[in-house]
Amino acid sequence: MGFSTLELDPLEPGILRLTINRPKALNALSPEVIAELEEAVAAIAADAALRVLLVTGAGEKAFVAGADIAAMSQMTPLEGREFSNRALAVFRSLELLPIPVIALVNGYALGGGCELAMACDWIIASDKAQFGQPEVNLGICPGFGGTQRLTRLVGRARALELVCTGRQVKAEEAYALGLVNHVVPAADLLAKGLEQARLIAAKGPVAVKYAKHLVQRGQDLDLDNACQLEADVFGLLCATEDKAEGMRAFLEKRPAKFSGR
Ligand code: CAA
Repeated sequence: MGFSTLELDPLEPGILRLTINRPKALNALSPEVIAELEEAVAAIAADAALRVLLVTGAGEKAFVAGADIAAMSQMTPLEGREFSNRALAVFRSLELLPIPVIALVNGYALGGGCELAMACDWIIASDKAQFGQPEVNLGICPGFGGTQRLTRLVGRARALELVCTGRQVKAEEAYALGLVNHVVPAADLLAKGLEQARLIAAKGPVAVKYAKHLVQRGQDLDLDNACQLEADVFGLLCATEDKAEGMRAFLEKRPAKFSGR
């Protein structure tokens, strides 16, 4: 699959890295990047051999410095709405992939970049990372889900402060806010992502898939319905070969060999 703004690198069996690759524009999300992301995410969703996706930005400086300001400066209201809708749809597809998606934030994650990172399942940040929703500086509001995902991650008051002031936060503050799960030295970012990806890839594939499904789909349900969904999925997993193997391996005091069935 040939892309001009993305790179897809299979790092190890089951572990794929997707890199937004426009370093000269700090990996800004142009309409072309969004179109290529649509294609890439569809291909990833269809690849049953994948276990974990790592998402990062090319170069030393930026994860993604936002939606492309040059492109947005020319957009009519209808084009702006369409741009926002397409990005929202592809971010949602990324979020609902049947495998964990980890953002490796190596630098600026601003505007659409912060929104892309938040559409991943969790974020590992380098100590050089900076996060923010600076859209108000440009006379616009976040348009790729920032007002919603930031609020769900850090709470209403903190989200409002960041969205209304446009203030950028460094990695340590982002960690304290609950926006990122881990902060590591820049040189260790990929190694930390791979360490987590390997842990996941060693678990039962069906169990990981449905654990993610429950968290993603359950969070917007009321507690009773969300817990019932969990009970239903728990029952479903009792029918898998992976459950039989995982429990047999525990009782026989040996590592499990999961088949994903
Ligand atoms: N869109 C398009 N181009 C961008 C860009 C963006 N979001 N961010 C950076 N670039 C380009 C710059 O124009 C510059 O290009 P040239 O070399 O051709 O001039 C190149 O990337 C390098 O950037 P700087 O020279 O500005 O680098 P710097 O180190 O001085 O500053 C920065 C880095 C603080 C991240 C600065 O580039 C910046 O503030 N960028 C914009 C950040 C921003 O406002 N993001 C939000 C966009 S709006 C949005 O995302 C809306 C939404 O939710 C959908």
